[in-house]
Amino acid sequence: MGPRELGLPMPVASPEPGQLPGEVTIWEVGARDGLQNEKEIVPLEVKLEFLRRLADAGLVVLEATSFVHPKWVPQLADAAELLDGLDQAPGARYPVLVPNARGLDRALEAKVRDIAIFAAASETFAQRNLNSGLDEQFGMFEPVVTRAVSEGIAVRGYLSMCFGDPWEGPVAIEQVVAAGKRLLDMGCHQLSLGDTIGVATPGHVESLLRAFVAAGVGVDRLAVHFHDTYGQALSNTLTALRHGVSTVDSSAGGLGGCPYAKSATGNLATEDLIWMLEGLGIQHGVDLGKLVETSVWMAEQLGRPSPSRVVKALGS
Ligand code: HMG
Ligand code: MG
Repeated sequence: MGPRELGLPMPVASPEPGQLPGEVTIWEVGARDGLQNEKEIVPLEVKLEFLRRLADAGLVVLEATSFVHPKWVPQLADAAELLDGLDQAPGARYPVLVPNARGLDRALEAKVRDIAIFAAASETFAQRNLNSGLDEQFGMFEPVVTRAVSEGIAVRGYLSMCFGDPWEGPVAIEQVVAAGKRLLDMGCHQLSLGDTIGVATPGHVESLLRAFVAAGVGVDRLAVHFHDTYGQALSNTLTALRHGVSTVDSSAGGLGGCPYAKSATGNLATEDLIWMLEGLGIQHGVDLGKLVETSVWMAEQLGRPSPSRVVKALGS
């Protein structure tokens, strides 16, 4: 029995800045975050082929879709059909987004074992993305997490707008830490810190991570989710790695954005992340060649080139 089960304070892992993890888990969000914002709805067969190719390239955490309201995100309205048609790769995980009790019912019907709830760190984004208030959203999530955990389902907590909000501007670090702690205290095994509109810079990332550690949250429970709007996603990721974070969200080919945050452009591209990890000698388990081929193929399906620098460099 560990300290958590005994109700004791958890030891806080906080490596000195400058150390790097030996291995990074890539949380691939291409099929969900990547496709939720597409103007044209991507056919189910293309989504399934995309996920098959991503797994074949060696990715083992593949966020597959969302059980959100189909009118809010029609691009992912085929969530149940997708899971039904998905040939899951051995050893891979296929988490899905779930906002509320109805979403959890649908996910359970589809035999999902891994979900992510997604809270906002700002009032306006809670309203726009969840039709809820900053405080009110936790009332929606709490029963979802309690029920999911009691059924043995792993629950990740996302927190959006951790570094800035397009309507409110800067978001106070204390507000972000308070919201993030509420998600962890509810029973989320991990908290992913989202820079939904890509405004973060490395100093801000450092301050936020330090604030979480000072509040008793170990970096081993944190993941980072950067968007590359201002070209800072890789620098921000390196900063997080130097602070001991070892789970990084990224999207194959840099696909993505959020339909309820206008200035959210593409996610950090998985290929760009891998290039950096390779250079740093950090294990990641992905075949970069196969992944680039997948993103080139996906770009053909979507009818526009990938914004990833590495896909551009290697994919001709
Ligand atoms: P609402 O309209 O307030 O829902 O939406 P409601 O609870 O009032 O229910 C209204 C009706 O919708 C009811 O049906 C419900 O059953 C139904 P009726 O009784 O009227 O016939 N309903 C549902 N149907 C299917 N699935 C459901 C569901 N829920 C209710 N899950 C809600 C509230 C939260 C559902 C809505 O706001 C929503 O779906 N929001 C999701 C928005 C979204 O997916 N955004 C993108 C993901 S977040 C993101 O991208 C950021 C991230 O990447 C991190 C980062 O970048 O920072 C994670
Ligand atoms: Mg995102």
